[in-house]
Amino acid sequence: MIKLDYIGQSAFTLEANGKTVLLDPFVTGNPVATISADSLNPTTILISHAHGDHLGDAVAIAKRTGCVVITLVEIAEYLSEKGVENLQPGNFGGTVAFDGGTAKFVPAWHTSSFTDDGQKVAIGIPAGFIIRFGGKTIYFAGDTALFGDMKLIGEEGIDLAILPIGDNYTMGPADAIRAARLVGATFVLPCHYNTFPLIQQDAAKFKADLEAQTESKGIVLSPGASYDLV
Ligand code: NI
Ligand code: MN
Repeated sequence: MIKLDYIGQSAFTLEANGKTVLLDPFVTGNPVATISADSLNPTTILISHAHGDHLGDAVAIAKRTGCVVITLVEIAEYLSEKGVENLQPGNFGGTVAFDGGTAKFVPAWHTSSFTDDGQKVAIGIPAGFIIRFGGKTIYFAGDTALFGDMKLIGEEGIDLAILPIGDNYTMGPADAIRAARLVGATFVLPCHYNTFPLIQQDAAKFKADLEAQTESKGIVLSPGASYDLV
């Protein structure tokens, strides 16, 4: 079983067997977050790409806890320069092990830039992850457009797909339903919506449409809410 907590945007924690995986830790400055970054004590952090709403508090949390950070090679090099010591860099197609599970780097169609000390930088290429943890297989899509190779990801037997539905910066609800059909996950959890004005979506409608048009069951969580994936 995994206890899944939604922080907001694409930030989640997955807890199983006393280990906690933190995904895309955008907490400070996240308008919908109900917790503070200081309250998080992960054993592993996964970062999909370098946009501020995903990299978020990763440096501060990693330095405070000493947890391992799994991310693209180029983002790992940047984090190393910022003083993060416990890094596990990877790249597409590769699977890396962490305490309690594994994460496989899979593609995502998006960009990966941010402003660092007033300088515009673009590092790495956005990724998604296939996470095996707590006896479950989770596809964390990151920020992405719909793409046909999601069908290959689905061949890995996905229990839960975490998909962006916000539109504007990622795929919207209609493409997320097409993605759900390609992945064929038992459960689909929408994210990356209602954090900012440009990504307002009706998640209840998404769940209803998803369940009418695919075999997947929708899980809709408000920021601060939890779900036990059994
Ligand atoms: Ni992004
Ligand atoms: Mn984003």
